[in-house]
Amino acid sequence: MIDPEAVLNHHCKPVPRYTSYPTASMFKEGLGAVLFEQSLAGLDPADPVSTYLHIPYCDRLCWFCACHTKHTLKYAPVARYVRSLVAEVKLLKQHLPFRPLLGQLHLGGGSPSLLKSDDLLLIRDALEQVFTINADTEISVEIDPSDVNGSTIDGLAEFGLTRASIGVQDFHPDVQQAINRPQSFEITRDVVQQLRAAGIRSLNIDALYGLPLQSESRLLRTLEQCVNLHPDRMALFGYAHVPWLKKHQNMINCDDLAGPLERYKHSRSATQALVAAGYQAIGIDHFAKPDDSLAMAARLGELHRNFQGYTTDNHQTMIGCGASSIGRSTIGYVQNTVPSNQYESQVSAGTLPKNKGLVFTADDRLRRHIIERLMCDFAVDFNTLDAYPIELVDACRKQAQRLVSEDRFGFCSFDDSTLQVQPVAKPFTRIIAANFDAYYEPEQFQYSKAV
Ligand SMILES: C[S@@+](CC[C@H](N)C(=O)[O-])C[C@H]1O[C@@H](n2cnc3c(N)ncnc32)[C@H](O)[C@@H]1O
Ligand code: SF4
Repeated sequence: MIDPEAVLNHHCKPVPRYTSYPTASMFKEGLGAVLFEQSLAGLDPADPVSTYLHIPYCDRLCWFCACHTKHTLKYAPVARYVRSLVAEVKLLKQHLPFRPLLGQLHLGGGSPSLLKSDDLLLIRDALEQVFTINADTEISVEIDPSDVNGSTIDGLAEFGLTRASIGVQDFHPDVQQAINRPQSFEITRDVVQQLRAAGIRSLNIDALYGLPLQSESRLLRTLEQCVNLHPDRMALFGYAHVPWLKKHQNMINCDDLAGPLERYKHSRSATQALVAAGYQAIGIDHFAKPDDSLAMAARLGELHRNFQGYTTDNHQTMIGCGASSIGRSTIGYVQNTVPSNQYESQVSAGTLPKNKGLVFTADDRLRRHIIERLMCDFAVDFNTLDAYPIELVDACRKQAQRLVSEDRFGFCSFDDSTLQVQPVAKPFTRIIAANFDAYYEPEQFQYSKAV
């Protein structure tokens, strides 16, 4: 048995969420453009690519939000931004050696659901000029039920949407007031029905634990209401309170936030409730119906983790478009310029808005693989790492053995060749993964609480 209180007292420092390794805090200014050109030049025509499009606008500002977004009540800045996004997508054509097949496309934000249907179609048209989109292309979008209307839902259906991810967070009015996010169950239910009526079959719902004024019973009631909407997938993220990075989080009263042990208990009860409702637990914070592709990928050891969380996306190359978006290739990570005005100026000057980047070293590749497998499978078999230099694998193997021999909490076992996270230690996997992070500095303030 693990004593969670002792673990949380000992590991009180923040840790990365490991949606990438190395983490975005390691990206270096000015590397992005060259790295991106090299990545595109190295594409294999046989391999489909993924694309992430970022919409950094919302018509409300939720105080808990840690996303790259801006509040606007006017549509004009959004419309102008869409013109830049379309121009950036079209610019790709000049840099791509051929027309790649688009395997997966994700529209995230911010709130892509506030886009007008005409703008969605402009984006789709630009994508079609650059990529081949076919019936197998998975297209997903993040939806804030309070800003989406029937016309946008029709536009999304015409766009070819295959999965919608709906933000709920919590349904209790007191919690919603404490995070400045009013959203009735009825509005959410109506949007779910409209999406299904428009033919969008696969739905995900996002909920959060660790929100201000959120008791265990409020959280469980929210999850019950979500389950009543029959989503195929659910994400239950721990609220990341990082007011030093996101000033508006200062609007949240710290006295209303649960402490680490309470957060742990809430997350554990929530996991039990979702599993009892028929969902398969996936990684540290996702759930899916057992016949959903994410659940199947998890069972087959084919799950991946990217900036959006857990995914079935196994493509080597992800092209990021839009301010602050991050892409990835076999060479490294590339991030677009973050401030949207600078991003728009670069695009209008005909320049690819690539700014920061990180070129993988051999050690980064190996540690990235180890961390991804730990986060996805809770295990890593060191005898399957032939693709990596043997001396680096040996160093990590020794690190794994040391981790187990010095493990005062019973987090992991190491038998023959496999480092295995114990089932009770799963909520602490980010702490375990940090042991393989060569850059981890606990004093860094970019990160959030481990649980
Ligand atoms: C990019 S947001 C977009 C969602 C959409 N705009 C909405 O509000 O419904 C995606 C998800 O990130 C999660 N998120 C945002 N801020 C967070 C934070 N501080 N900690 C943990 N998760 C957060 C929320 O669950 C949210 O639904
Ligand atoms: S949670 Fe969604 S709607 Fe709220 S500010 Fe963040 S991105 Fe915008």
